[in-house]
Amino acid sequence: MSHSQPVTVPCVMKIAGTGSYVPERVLTNADLEKLVETTDEWIMSRTGIKERRIAAEGEATSDLATKAALRAMEAAGVTAEEIDLIIVGTISPDTFFPSTACHVQRNLGAVKAVAFDVSAACAGFLYAMQIARQFINGGTRKTALIIGADKLSGMVNWQDRNTCVLFGDGAGAAILTAKEPNDGDPSGVLSSVMASDGRLTDILSVPGGGSAIPITPENADQRLNTIHMQGREVFKAAVKYTLEACEQVIERAGLKADDIALIIPHQANVRIVDAIRERLGLPPERAFLNLQKYGNTSGAAVAIALDEAVRSGVVKKGDNILLVAFGAGFAWSASVIKW
Ligand code: COA
Repeated sequence: MSHSQPVTVPCVMKIAGTGSYVPERVLTNADLEKLVETTDEWIMSRTGIKERRIAAEGEATSDLATKAALRAMEAAGVTAEEIDLIIVGTISPDTFFPSTACHVQRNLGAVKAVAFDVSAACAGFLYAMQIARQFINGGTRKTALIIGADKLSGMVNWQDRNTCVLFGDGAGAAILTAKEPNDGDPSGVLSSVMASDGRLTDILSVPGGGSAIPITPENADQRLNTIHMQGREVFKAAVKYTLEACEQVIERAGLKADDIALIIPHQANVRIVDAIRERLGLPPERAFLNLQKYGNTSGAAVAIALDEAVRSGVVKKGDNILLVAFGAGFAWSASVIKW
């Protein structure tokens, strides 16, 4: 199976603004010690996560997504009427149908947009970015709202210590706009990879609740509608594929690892981030981390991290930044962006 199809179209897209939102309720490792047999020390040393945010009762994925979107629109100076494409990367949609993107479209009043979801788990935001980029480069859309949003707190088995300590809720968004190819502004996507490996569908999934295994009174006690994960297998696949993707996008951008000012990686586990960063030969300060505050927010994680890195001034004009994410599928994506 080949994972290296290059995205070769010239870039006429730029990131005009970013935004993010996390729910107010904080669930700490100390809180989890009261729910399952675990310790703050175990969670911190194995994952780097200290606390995570949990959506309020009645707060749906589209509510998180809409709040992040409004912040990105404000940062970009773009109105709802100007948006002609909305893509939401999510695996915890409000409803099986309609799409979460249509719920967001309604919330925003983005009447001119076409709206749809993409299912790529934790790679959802970067998949959405690559799909929107094709529309913009193709000239059929000019102003895209892309969102990574997930509320995994509703899909976690809170009695399973292997998974419940890892995840949190949140949303991140970006406005992508078309730009003239020869406008003298070098900012934009320099290179990208989008890939998946369906041989690994079983290592991370919610097996029940869909058409394959409907939830019935007979199987309800097996909690098949919650996250099932083979942690070590996921860890190995994440390091292998993410490193491969990072090396590919750096090379295709005509750069060396040292030219990357900042990696903004998926926020699943600090040990995965360290493994990749070290193999690229980069020091700790070149990787942006906020997983200690939010845990793994799935499709939202890279988007929230990007927004925080931009707003805090860690990302500077002209920097080469590397966004990379991986998740269930297995699905992964990476991009080098000149800011
Ligand atoms: N608290 C205390 N002990 C725990 C625990 C917890 N929350 N979760 C698991 N353990 C136990 C296990 O039961 C196991 O005990 P055993 O040896 O008696 O069987 C022990 O800790 C070690 O488990 P192991 O799986 O070897 O730990 P690990 O070092 O691989 O860390 C993960 C576990 C899940 C943190 C790690 O595998 C990981 O991060 N994987 C990737 C997960 C991920 O990123 N998922 C999302 C992808 S988008």
